[in-house]
Amino acid sequence: MELLNEIRRLKRDRNALILAHFYEDGAIQDLADFVGDSLQLAQFSQKTNNPVVLMAGVVFMAETVKILSPEKTVLVPDLNAGCSLVAHSPFEEYKAWKDAHPNSILVSYVNCSADVKSISDVICTSANAEQIIRAIPPEKTVLFGPDRNLGSYLQKKLNRPMELWPGACEVHVLFSARKLFELKHAHPNAPVLAHPECIESVLQYADVIGSTSRLLNEVKTNPAKTFIVATEPGIFHQMKKARPDAEILQAPAEGSCACNECPYMKLNSLEKIAAALHDLTPAVSVMPSIVDKARVPLERMLKITAGTPIQWH
Ligand code: 13P
Ligand code: SF4
Repeated sequence: MELLNEIRRLKRDRNALILAHFYEDGAIQDLADFVGDSLQLAQFSQKTNNPVVLMAGVVFMAETVKILSPEKTVLVPDLNAGCSLVAHSPFEEYKAWKDAHPNSILVSYVNCSADVKSISDVICTSANAEQIIRAIPPEKTVLFGPDRNLGSYLQKKLNRPMELWPGACEVHVLFSARKLFELKHAHPNAPVLAHPECIESVLQYADVIGSTSRLLNEVKTNPAKTFIVATEPGIFHQMKKARPDAEILQAPAEGSCACNECPYMKLNSLEKIAAALHDLTPAVSVMPSIVDKARVPLERMLKITAGTPIQWH
């Protein structure tokens, strides 16, 4: 309680906004001014004038806020809060892939570095990926990276061939299709909700596939009493708050590990949040030349999401 009061005091003194992703611990989500999926966090950061934003999420989410609002100080509780998709898309190799496909449109999932964003034509999140791909003229070749599972899901759903970069989320690939089948069999009335970063053999059992906010919304609006959820369990906090009457079951991983927790999201803690607000560090930094280039595909994403047509090269 003392720590929470200390954070609230520091937040007031710094005129700071605290944003949290659904995968954070419940105590961090409850403390935040706003909790959302990666698209909502980027959109919300644009609506406020706070000079300091603390992103309780992973570093690419904080970089997105910084690119969109370079004048703000954007803090992260722990600079080691990476993402396997960022690690799987090193800039030089990703650029060589783009260069090998001239005249294509490069769509990069927001889970990538600022450098990768700076050479992308448009960014998407799992919440708006379909809308973004649909906005690209059909005669254009689409390169999609760095998440091959999201890419191959979109490719099939939209019946649109795309060149896919071979990256993956180390957390979502661990759900077991075999065990999910058994769990579904044991709970035949429970809808299966899955994030599109899961592998195809898991997605085949899903009744709803979508971003974290989409999955949460399903729990809020679907009258079912039991749900099976194939995404990071941090989101159960909001699901249980919204539906205290419902049972939320975690889709199982292969083996008996708790490896469906994102180790990067879970690096954050209340202690680190207090220290970051106190010291105004660690803050993310993105080179101004990269900010200028990376803002273009991010703003395109926000425009398409808002229904504004855009020009392609
Ligand atoms: P959302 O955009 O659905 O919140 O997903 C972010 C993420 O990192 C999923 O692993
Ligand atoms: Fe990255 Fe996967 Fe963690 Fe999401 S859950 S932040 S995609 S490693």
